Parts: sequence; C-alpha cells; structure tokens
Amino acid sequence: MTTRTAGPIISPSILSADFAALGEEVRAVSEAGADWIHLDVMDGHFVPNITFGPDVVKALRPHSAKVFDVHLMIAPADPYLAAFAAAGADAISVHVEAGPHIHRSLQTIRALGKRAGIALNPGTPASAIEPLIDMVDLVLMMTVNPGFGGQNFIPSTLETIARIKAMTAGRDIDIEVDGGITPETVGLAAAAGANAFVAGSAVFKGGPAGYAERIAAIRAGAGGSVAC
Ligand code: DX5
Ligand code: ZN
Repeated sequence: MTTRTAGPIISPSILSADFAALGEEVRAVSEAGADWIHLDVMDGHFVPNITFGPDVVKALRPHSAKVFDVHLMIAPADPYLAAFAAAGADAISVHVEAGPHIHRSLQTIRALGKRAGIALNPGTPASAIEPLIDMVDLVLMMTVNPGFGGQNFIPSTLETIARIKAMTAGRDIDIEVDGGITPETVGLAAAAGANAFVAGSAVFKGGPAGYAERIAAIRAGAGGSVAC
C-alpha cells in the first residue's frame, strides 16, 4: 500500500480531455505536473452518461507512470473490479449508493492489491460511510452530481468533507474532492479537509499549452507550492 503524499494531490479528470487523442492527453497532463490521473467510468445506468471501460484504461496505461485513480460510476461494480485491476488501475473507487454489498466490493479491491476508495454523492451523509472506514484508503467526495464535467461546485458538500475529515483523523486515508474544482473553489475544499483534488474542465479547457499553468494554479489554490 502506498502512503499519503505530502502536499495537495492534483488528479486531472480525462473526462474533459480530447477523446480522439486520449493517449497524448494523459501523457501531456502527466508531464505538466499531474500527481494522479482520474479516470471516470460511467455506465448510463448509475449515472446518465456513458464513457469507457477497462480496455481504454489498459490502452492508456503505457502513456503514464502516474497513479491511475479510477472512479467507477457503475452499478453493479463487482463484476468489473478484476478487469479494472488487471487494466492497470492503482486506486479503484466505488459508490456507496451503487449497491447493497459495498463492504464486499471494498474487500475485493483490496484483495486485488489496489487502493480501495469509497465515493459518495453530494446528497449522501458522511454517516453512510462510517462503518466502512477501516476498509478504505481513499474517500472520494462528489462536489457535483456525478455524470458530467463542467458543473458548479456544491457548497453544502463542505460540511460533509469536514465530517469525513474528523471521521478519518489519525488514519492513512486520502480525502479527494471531485466536481467544480477550480483555482477559486479548491481552497474551500482544502480548508474543509480535502488533500486530493480532481479537476476536469479547469485543467483541460484551453488545450495542452496551458496544462502546467492550470495544474499549478489549482495546486497553489489548495495551499501547495507552485514549483512542482
Ligand atoms: C463527474 C466526474 C468528474 C468530472 C469533473 O461525474 O466524476 O471527475 O470529470 O469535472 P469538472 O472538474 O469539470 O467538474
Ligand atoms: Zn470522477
């Protein structure tokens, strides 16, 4: 198991990348200072959008040595966990709302040798994940309703983040926020207790020439050093 990285972790979401050039996009954000690469998997059932599956994750793996942070917005998730692990995922997050046997899903992810993440929607209380805390390496707090990039940060999630921070005190658990993260909103999430930050449109909008600058701006907004 990897231990927690000091300083903010920036995880660009390729949901906002150029889908016709995903390999180059993953390479470009990796070289531009991304700490993790966030891969959003959607099934058109748990969320109202469809993206990609394990074969795409596998195809992208040779393009970056960064942590592949796979966010599963699928139900059921269990039948696909082994395939995502084999494809090269380093962390796999499943939604607490996605099925009745979430404890089993987290056990399976750890048994596959991967970092286990529990994701929760903005409307889900922190208490929903409390019984699972010993099972996770990562909490993925959605700060927008999952399904699409480019939405506005939902401020009521800050209180949930603070509760999760208190709940995970003293444990080696990353608290990651996902949705509407910009150089302006990232500081609020960091102050509430998050240490990992997904950003899709705030990194990719405008093209590769600006990736390094935009990642640095998000890092600085989270309280990290601009030099990376
Ligand atoms: C939304 C995804 C996010 C999305 C974030 O369901 O989980 O990772 O890409 O996009 P932005 O940063 O544009 O809100
Ligand atoms: Zn995501």
